[in-house]
Amino acid sequence: MVEAVIFDLDGVLVTTDEFHYLAWKHLAEELGIHNFTKEDNVRQRGVSRMASLEVVLEKGDKIYTEEEKLELADKKNNIYVASLKDLSPEDILPGVTRFLAFLKEKGIKTAIGSASKNTPLILEKTGLASSFDAISCGLDTTKSKPDPEVFLIAASKLGVAPENCVVVEDSDAGIQAAKSGGMYALAVGAAKENPLADCAAESLDVFSFEKNGWFCE
Ligand code: BG6
Ligand code: MG
Repeated sequence: MVEAVIFDLDGVLVTTDEFHYLAWKHLAEELGIHNFTKEDNVRQRGVSRMASLEVVLEKGDKIYTEEEKLELADKKNNIYVASLKDLSPEDILPGVTRFLAFLKEKGIKTAIGSASKNTPLILEKTGLASSFDAISCGLDTTKSKPDPEVFLIAASKLGVAPENCVVVEDSDAGIQAAKSGGMYALAVGAAKENPLADCAAESLDVFSFEKNGWFCE
């Protein structure tokens, strides 16, 4: 019996996945890495800021110290946060508002489970902050997806057992995290071909949750 749905943020609820990509591309160009592509960005989805940085750096041939890496991650974050200046409710992805309203009507709890330390800022700018019963994000965790920590913290904040949670994810790391945490996984967008997922859809807009057995028993 599904009692809660835990949503990833970037690329599932909000279009910020594209802003992440553009900020990393900007940094890569500054570092003289001109072959950083959207395919590389797929591996950055779901993982922490520092793990995402490694995906950029492995495209170049320079070696950086830990201190330099922290500076580079900060630089990317400044570019990223500046690009969120005009973020608004219009940047919420199609199908999200309808899905949240459906879950509320069914009495199913909702939470965020995101690697991003910018989660509070994004929720505030998109007006989504009060739409969730619990928030678990990069500010709460010590381990990055594919470790299930961020989802287990969300489930614990909700007071729901992992086996009664569905995770919605657009990253392979996130699908792996959901499954190793003992949860159901609904894959959308970039993760939709992931064989570990229990269910998949191009986007939440075309996922017919009204007919899905998880929510209609
Ligand atoms: C995830 C993104 O949601 O958050 C990753 O998919 C990103 O690409 C990670 O690296 C960390 O985000 P932030 O905002 O803390 O740099
Ligand atoms: Mg994501």
